Amino acid sequence: MVVSLSKRGDVEPFHAMDVLAEANRLKATGVSVVSMAVGQPSDPAPTLVREAAARALRDGRIGYTDALGTAGLRQAIAAHYAEHYGVEVSAARIAVTTGSSAAFNLAFLAMFDPGDCVAIAAPGYPAYRNIMIALGLDVAEIELDGAAYLTADHLEAAHRQKPLKGVLFASPANPTGAIIPQKELAELVAKAESLGISVISDEIYHRLAYSGPDVTALSLGQGVTVINSFSKYYCMTGWRIGWMVLPEELVRPIERIQQSLYISAPELSQVAAIEAFSATAELEAVKARYSWNRELLMRRLPELGFALAAPMDGAFYAFCDVSRLTNDSMEFARRMLAEAHVAGTPGRDFDTLAGHRFMRLSYAGSQDEMVEALARIERWLK
Ligand SMILES: Cc1ncc(COP(=O)(O)O)c(C=O)c1O
Repeated sequence: MVVSLSKRGDVEPFHAMDVLAEANRLKATGVSVVSMAVGQPSDPAPTLVREAAARALRDGRIGYTDALGTAGLRQAIAAHYAEHYGVEVSAARIAVTTGSSAAFNLAFLAMFDPGDCVAIAAPGYPAYRNIMIALGLDVAEIELDGAAYLTADHLEAAHRQKPLKGVLFASPANPTGAIIPQKELAELVAKAESLGISVISDEIYHRLAYSGPDVTALSLGQGVTVINSFSKYYCMTGWRIGWMVLPEELVRPIERIQQSLYISAPELSQVAAIEAFSATAELEAVKARYSWNRELLMRRLPELGFALAAPMDGAFYAFCDVSRLTNDSMEFARRMLAEAHVAGTPGRDFDTLAGHRFMRLSYAGSQDEMVEALARIERWLK
């Protein structure tokens, strides 16, 4: 038997998904597990979204759409930029994608060639690094070393070491929840432009900031590519639907690559997602619950020895320094799941160098789950 295996398949596993799989195995044996491992809202998609999907299913045929998405959804997304940010964006610059995950593939393929060096922050969302490596890009991981977010100075220093073709950052960030303040974000984008570095801004956690309005990097630079998704604020992870806002030069290349890679994002999800922008009251109620969970964790986690390693400005994560409890957060996560039946994510996913000291806990679950998780952790540590 001959089975060819590429070096690209050798990417690091996404440990949070492995923890989730182990938690599911435990659950299947009847154990009650509280999961704080995966960044996934526990609420269903908004009612209006589900009703639109049900109507579309009843009406029948679900097909391919234009590669860049349906005109209706692209217009709804453009209108969202005007309403939410006061930024005018033509629907022609919107590409609808199969979650933001597909948008990363499309952006990296359209913007960079194998060997190009692209900067990301560490800690950061692991798929950035894993996708880039799989595509043959050179990844410059900028260790934040305790700083809350990536700055213009970080970028300049990394560019001096090795010339960068691009930079990708998220604000609010995963795993830290940190938000880059407007002034620093403007400086970062301006610095990138002055150094000839293309900017990709992952805005998937927008609308999940707990103080102050969202600022889109689109309003701060001409050449910025924005990636966003219906997964988080809109509670639509499994619908696999997201979008990009592109500089005009990238629209046609992204369209060409999308045609061959994905044909289009799923039509059912596109029809339903249009309604997500009208579901604000329902979604703000979900966010109010995250806010309650966040207050609880901010107070209780440090008391349990989970020192907060980042400000928890947005998203739904607590990134904790657990070095008082362990020097191997991977093993710690395994034991916390097996013995306390609470699933958390080891920091290794987000930072290969310093991750062994950290754990990420998601507070996207219910209030009862948070209370129960904290009680279990407390009993376990005693
Ligand atoms: C920062 C960040 N970007 C992108 C994604 C991927 O989201 P999706 O593909 O569901 O849009 C995630 C998921 O956790 C994330 O945390």
